[in-house]
Amino acid sequence: MQELIEKYKQEVLSFESIDEKEKELFRIKYMGKNGVLSTLFEDFKKIDSSQKKEIGLLINELKGLVLSKINTKNAKSNKNLKHDVFDYTLPPVQKKIGSLHPLSIVENKIINIFKLLGFSLETGPEIEDDWHNFSALNMPEDHPARDMQDTFFISKSPDLLLRTHTSSVQIRFMENTAPPIRIISPGRVFRNEDISARSHCLFHQIEGLAIDENIKFSDLKLIVQEFINQLFGENKKIRFRPSFFPFTEPSAEVDIYWGLKTETDKKITKGTGWLEIMGCGMVDPNVLKNVNIDSEKYSGYAFGMGIERIAMLLYQIDDIRLFYENDIRFLKQFKSSHIM
Ligand code: DAH
Repeated sequence: MQELIEKYKQEVLSFESIDEKEKELFRIKYMGKNGVLSTLFEDFKKIDSSQKKEIGLLINELKGLVLSKINTKNAKSNKNLKHDVFDYTLPPVQKKIGSLHPLSIVENKIINIFKLLGFSLETGPEIEDDWHNFSALNMPEDHPARDMQDTFFISKSPDLLLRTHTSSVQIRFMENTAPPIRIISPGRVFRNEDISARSHCLFHQIEGLAIDENIKFSDLKLIVQEFINQLFGENKKIRFRPSFFPFTEPSAEVDIYWGLKTETDKKITKGTGWLEIMGCGMVDPNVLKNVNIDSEKYSGYAFGMGIERIAMLLYQIDDIRLFYENDIRFLKQFKSSHIM
């Protein structure tokens, strides 16, 4: 029996194959139900007990060899398999990452410009009361200017509404802070308007306010010009067009000459090449009085602009509704845009 085991041992030691079929035959030959090892174990039962110890060791050694062959074969073939299957020329699987919304991109750009010009960031509530949204801004009840902004009223008592503009933050800030003041305040505003390609019931504004001694209209012009230069590049033509807002005197609207290079330009500028991008003016002394700031000592300017309009110009978007539909085909176009 020892000789037979020795013969198998040599056979096992010399077995070398990468062929799957051959390896399976090898496994069956030695480890199968009626294979070499089970036959040997059967024969083992019949041998003389004086030989059992020696033969038992030999059979176990053979079994160990067979198992290690099978296992190393498998490990080897797995290794080969990995090399065969892994194709290094395949492009990597791209992780899907989101992008900032175009309105956030533009809002961030505007905020950064004003931050560098010395303005700090403030926020105010979207649910406002009549005082902060209207009365304190020199629009007492029955003032016709209230009709300019169709309002979503929430309740009469307590009197609550959705703010129609970010100018309400001017009041909130001045009520609590003494001059000098230099703030900007971005946020959502709401108006009861029909939804179309040009207007929406929800949009975004950025408000600006500067109060100090000796602030003049020329300071406002300087800041606006610098802002336009930084956002749209130097040499953009702008004009200050006299206008009216109850909370500023004098008031102006700022138009930018954008030109008519594309169909979208024509649509956005109504065929004129000019687009109004902000309202501004010198803070009305009545507003300062309403927040207990001495209008003899202090003066200031304020401005407010719509973020959608500016984003529409910059990204050539001719329908404001696209901003709110969350259509992934629209949003993913802004992936490569600069996050400032
Ligand atoms: N609140 C105005 C609006 O929504 C915009 C505006 C105009 C804001 C003039 C100002 C300003 O601060 O001085 O139409």
